[in-house]
Amino acid sequence: MAKVGIIGAGSWGIALSVLLYNNGHDITVWSALADEIDMLKREHEHKDKLPGVKLADDVLFTTELADVVKKKDILVLAVPSSFTRATAHSLNEYVVEGQIIVNVAKGIEESTLMTLSQVIEEEMPQADVAVLSGPSHAEEVGKCIPTTIVVGAKTWNTAEYIQTIFMSDVFRVYTSPDVLGIELGAALKNVVALAAGIADGLGYGDNTKAALITRGITEIARLGMEMGGKFETFCGLSGIGDLIVTCASMHSRNRRAGILIGQGKTMEEAMAEVKMVVEGVFSAKAAMGLAQKYNVELPIIDQVNEVLFHNKPAAAAVRDLMIRDKKIEIAHDDTDWKM
Ligand SMILES: NC(=O)c1ccc[n+]([C@@H]2O[C@H](COP(=O)([O-])OP(=O)(O)OC[C@H]3O[C@@H](n4cnc5c(N)ncnc54)[C@H](O)[C@@H]3O)[C@@H](O)[C@H]2O)c1
Repeated sequence: MAKVGIIGAGSWGIALSVLLYNNGHDITVWSALADEIDMLKREHEHKDKLPGVKLADDVLFTTELADVVKKKDILVLAVPSSFTRATAHSLNEYVVEGQIIVNVAKGIEESTLMTLSQVIEEEMPQADVAVLSGPSHAEEVGKCIPTTIVVGAKTWNTAEYIQTIFMSDVFRVYTSPDVLGIELGAALKNVVALAAGIADGLGYGDNTKAALITRGITEIARLGMEMGGKFETFCGLSGIGDLIVTCASMHSRNRRAGILIGQGKTMEEAMAEVKMVVEGVFSAKAAMGLAQKYNVELPIIDQVNEVLFHNKPAAAAVRDLMIRDKKIEIAHDDTDWKM
């Protein structure tokens, strides 16, 4: 049994608390929001974020960072990406040398273009930072629906330790050394999910969705590999896996926001209606910054930015993607063609 501190009590923090409790671990959950902690202590359920998923009586809830960090074997950082830096900064004084932090948020910091593990390492150089990502909606993990995911860490020992802590007969965990590739797939799939939602909102069909998923992962991999990520990672759970689930599922807030935009709402109206942080909106801007820095073409993500930030009509964005210059799908030379 491990002592686990869950930092962030939104949908994902609560779902992972249930999973890890069921795995036999000792769970303490922290939130910055006193009302949320009061509600969790009272109800042992997050009625707004994950209704119907009960937390056991001996799960502890706190607003004190010291309580969630001290003597814990693993910390799971589950706050939305917009709060990652500030939360990591506050954690610094409590986290000891080598303490394992598993980041489960998805995003790229817009102002610095850093991945979240880089942000956490900057704020807490003493921590052993790992990431956990893959096709895993909280609504399904909370109901013990079979799910697969990948953990990325700097050492095999840390990766395997986290794998052992999280793994169960409903939650299968793979290991990988490619932390950067995992994080880029996780953040950028949210932008493509906005595009998939926009296509749905416009009334387009399965062909369009499949095109966005396939060409979307090509874009993500092109940028990711230029930055140092591994090709296989983008073919894996945190790449194409997470992209498929995010583009297909109504649990995805990015896709739901995209649908509203495709139906004619502005980005602000769509964010307000979804009532949750739509991280793809922030990652979209950051991705264009990375595209410029690494000199990589990201046509779908570029058009998402046009729709989100420059009021380009969604149908015009799709049309512009369709009438781009002719392209090859795979690299080839003359010897590849049968004469
Ligand atoms: N929900 C999912 O299915 C899922 C799955 C995998 C990964 N993720 C990722 O996990 C992260 C969290 O997602 P979520 O669905 O739990 O989000 P959420 O919108 O449910 O989280 C909101 C929570 O953030 C916390 N919070 C609010 N204000 C805060 C502040 N000022 N400082 C620190 N924390 C604050 C509170 O606990 C609040 O309940 C995201 O990056 C998301 O992409 C989510």
